[in-house]
Amino acid sequence: MKPKYERPVIVRHSLAGVNKFGPMPAVRPIVAIDGVRIADLVAAHGSPLFVFSERSLRERVRELRGALSRRLASFELAWSYKTNYLGAICRVFHQEGSLAEVVSGMELQMALAAGVAGERILFNGPYKSESDLALAFKRQVHVHIDHLDELTLAEKVAERLGVRPEVGMRVNLSELPVPVWDRFGFNLESGRALEAARRIMRGGRLDLRTLHCHIGTFVTNPDVYRMVARAMADLALTLEREIGSRIDTIDLGGGFASHNTLQSQYLPGDESTPSLEEFVEALVSGLEEGLQGAEPRRLILESGRALVDDAGYLILTVVGNKRLVDKRRAVILDGGVNILPTAWWYRHDLQPAQDTFGTPEPTVFFGPLCMNIDVVRDRILFPPLHVGDRIVVRHVGAYNVTQWMQFIAARPNVVLVSPKGEHSVIRRAETLEALQLHESIPSWL
Ligand SMILES: Cc1ncc(COP(=O)(O)O)c(C=O)c1O
Repeated sequence: MKPKYERPVIVRHSLAGVNKFGPMPAVRPIVAIDGVRIADLVAAHGSPLFVFSERSLRERVRELRGALSRRLASFELAWSYKTNYLGAICRVFHQEGSLAEVVSGMELQMALAAGVAGERILFNGPYKSESDLALAFKRQVHVHIDHLDELTLAEKVAERLGVRPEVGMRVNLSELPVPVWDRFGFNLESGRALEAARRIMRGGRLDLRTLHCHIGTFVTNPDVYRMVARAMADLALTLEREIGSRIDTIDLGGGFASHNTLQSQYLPGDESTPSLEEFVEALVSGLEEGLQGAEPRRLILESGRALVDDAGYLILTVVGNKRLVDKRRAVILDGGVNILPTAWWYRHDLQPAQDTFGTPEPTVFFGPLCMNIDVVRDRILFPPLHVGDRIVVRHVGAYNVTQWMQFIAARPNVVLVSPKGEHSVIRRAETLEALQLHESIPSWL
């Protein structure tokens, strides 16, 4: 095909184009996902379109299981529902043997409705209502206590039901080289965690079996997991020695970074994110150091983004081009931060879904919202695009389809592509009727 004429452009050299490691990554068109052409996906399901690769989901969770099984005799993975609670995605993780990790009454009901047995559900989060706790205890769900008022409530519920449930306790650490998340659980260094454990034992109503610690999210330094694992193992031994509580499980939460790139990050995540194996090596050595030869405990990991992010793609369509006053080229897309809230903290990797011609220029990608904050990517070297061209945003599987918002536009179709190349809608695009279903107009209007 004869290339289209492109008018010549002069591009000012800028540091955004080159760094000391060489040029920015080249544009590499993505024309298919697991063998299914983007053009066919859009023809069948429209644009914008979220696409999940089942193959990539399964490969990633198996990679983590493999790394753990080479080092530990007893472990479980628990799928973090809030990272992505679409039923089909949860089903893949449960088929791969994951427990469910939920953080609200609604998520608890989702997991139970999906057929997950209560004893295979972990219930985290800072707010569990009396009825949530009652449901959890009746179904043998493992509740992780977050604060003292919740502890009192949990004891009351257990007493009323005449049960002595096995529970966990969430612990936070404030002396780690990561931002402190001390709003969840009981602090270790100040002694609050030890006090809370004593208080649970004294109460006699709950059976403390698990220590849980989720130190934060998008952690890029595996060594932090060595420190946390060591501290949790050490606390487990202290609790056994001092108050006779038998801690059989250490749950280190989630937090491993995915292959995305934070806005503040220098190197792209594709090059800098540690492997799952590196995280596992670090935390296993921390457990060994902390346990000092004592009997190994069961380990639980609740990894979310590291397992699902890479499997998710967002296909968008160019709806317009314009030149900004500062001469930057701007492209308007048919989906923005309404469906891709992670654009606020990541420099998402955007690729064209077709061959491109012409000189790459610094380009800003806007979404369709009539809001200044609707920026999908603020500066990226990109060849010219035309109305109707498709863009693929990579690594969007985590937190977008749970945190997206219904603002101005309805949410689009979400599709799963099977390893055999089948594709099926796993969440239908919203309609105006669906959006207005819960509204009513008062009789006096
Ligand atoms: C308690 C708990 N577990 C697991 C996760 C999953 O974290 P990530 O997606 O960073 O792996 C979260 C998310 O913040 C969480 O709060």
